[in-house]
Amino acid sequence: AFRHKLRFIAAAKSATSLPPVDLPEVAFAGRSNVGKSSLINALTRQWGVARTSDKPGLTQSINFFRLGGRLCLVDLPGYGFAYAAEEKKEAWEEFVKEFVTTRAGLKRVYILVDAKWGLKLKDEELVQLMEKMGTKYQIVLTKSDIVTPVDLGRRATQILEIFKGNKCLMLPMIMVSSKTGEGLEFFRGNVAKLARA
Ligand code: GTP
Ligand code: MG
Repeated sequence: AFRHKLRFIAAAKSATSLPPVDLPEVAFAGRSNVGKSSLINALTRQWGVARTSDKPGLTQSINFFRLGGRLCLVDLPGYGFAYAAEEKKEAWEEFVKEFVTTRAGLKRVYILVDAKWGLKLKDEELVQLMEKMGTKYQIVLTKSDIVTPVDLGRRATQILEIFKGNKCLMLPMIMVSSKTGEGLEFFRGNVAKLARA
């Protein structure tokens, strides 16, 4: 699936502007600045298709990208962005929550967690919501290049311990760096299983 061209198809700011489902979808969720958009570019080796920024809060709509006729990658707005206006923040978070729990065609939600900062309250809330609603999700530790392998291992163990009773959690945990490319090939294989044949 990753050999296909990545094409932006839609940006939705509300439930009424969502594009119709015509492919299996996988979504990338996580705190602002965790590296969601960067990962979409790195996975597809197509830089700049999903816009990235060192300022948190860049992605402010749910953005849909088609990979040929196989799969749709969904870039979600980040949560926990401290500088956004309170009501705007809540509106995005509600929209994201509604999307991940109700979108037909959504095969899996990848919850990205910064390897350096680890799991935060908002991540846990999202995980527990998906557990309750039966959405399948998988944890991805990002920016593995900025922590030592030992710390990376520790982070992974901590998170698995916290969620060990969870039924919807898909294993194994994935660790990636969009910067060095570490873990990307494994991740591509993982995502490709969800694509249309
Ligand atoms: P929002 O759209 O604000 O929610 O952020 P995002 O999660 O889409 O993050 P984005 O991909 O825009 O990346 C945020 C910052 O992290 C940028 O400065 C990236 O260059 C940096 N970054 C992303 N991935 C990596 C990585 O694997 N390693 C390192 N060192 N930096 C990364
Ligand atoms: Mg983004």
